[in-house]
Amino acid sequence: MKIAIVGAAGRMGQMLCRLAEGTSLEVVSRVDVAEGFDRGWSDDVEGVIDFSFHGALPDLIEKAARQGIAYVIGTTGVTPQEQSKVDEASKRIPIVQSGNYSLGVNLLLELVGRAAATLGPEYDIEVTEMHHRHKKDAPSGTALMLAKAAAAGRGVDFGKVAVYGREGETGERPAGEIAVHALRGGSVIGDHTVMFAGDVERVEITHRAQGREAFAAGALKALEWAKGRAPGMYTMRDVLGFSSAEIG
Ligand SMILES: NC(=O)c1ccc[n+]([C@@H]2O[C@H](COP(=O)([O-])OP(=O)(O)OC[C@H]3O[C@@H](n4cnc5c(N)ncnc54)[C@H](O)[C@@H]3O)[C@@H](O)[C@H]2O)c1
Repeated sequence: MKIAIVGAAGRMGQMLCRLAEGTSLEVVSRVDVAEGFDRGWSDDVEGVIDFSFHGALPDLIEKAARQGIAYVIGTTGVTPQEQSKVDEASKRIPIVQSGNYSLGVNLLLELVGRAAATLGPEYDIEVTEMHHRHKKDAPSGTALMLAKAAAAGRGVDFGKVAVYGREGETGERPAGEIAVHALRGGSVIGDHTVMFAGDVERVEITHRAQGREAFAAGALKALEWAKGRAPGMYTMRDVLGFSSAEIG
């Protein structure tokens, strides 16, 4: 299968190009705004993996939809307006979108949903994430996925209970809040912890990425899976065959 990597000059893009070697996926277009890279993909491309910048997404996804080719979105920080273009395009092509393509984090989503359902609202839920100093958006897409998985497990609407960081006279913590906190520094590839803090015990579920290979391998697998599928929005959990796919 002939594919394009968008964001090919970046940290993830380089890893994707390297890992694609020796698979059934042949990278024929390395798309990036950086010098020496392709400005667009060639006509023979059958699928796209995009780990670039969210602002580029509406135009790129429209082009892919016109061509009828599968699209894997790794880029995070997508705004609601950009997301609506993605959702529109999914009526015409298969799109896999996930804030995290690693097997471990997708398993974590299952565990967090189960923990939230089991532990109940007397356990306060706090999500923390840490990434390298170059990361451009906060909180991470993965932290949001984890917080949404916790909310879904508890049967509440995340939008109604979400809190992002705290500062000043906050008052006591209201019951039911789900808070997300972002740390930045050094070269950390991606650490995530979901904490369930009760009166007499605390449960913490943590994932630490030790390399970008896990994300890249998952994204390559997602594109192989998506090729030839019916148009629609899919997640990495669909690719892995996990049951409750609505969390993303
Ligand atoms: N979903 C996941 O599993 C996962 C994992 C890691 C990173 N990410 C996300 O992937 C994205 C890239 O991360 P990174 O660490 O590789 O960043 P990076 O800054 O190293 O790379 C991004 C690349 O995109 C290029 N780019 C910017 N605008 C572009 C455009 N309009 N067209 C084409 N290329 C463009 C940049 O020149 C750069 O080379 C971020 O949104 C990050 O949060 C997702």
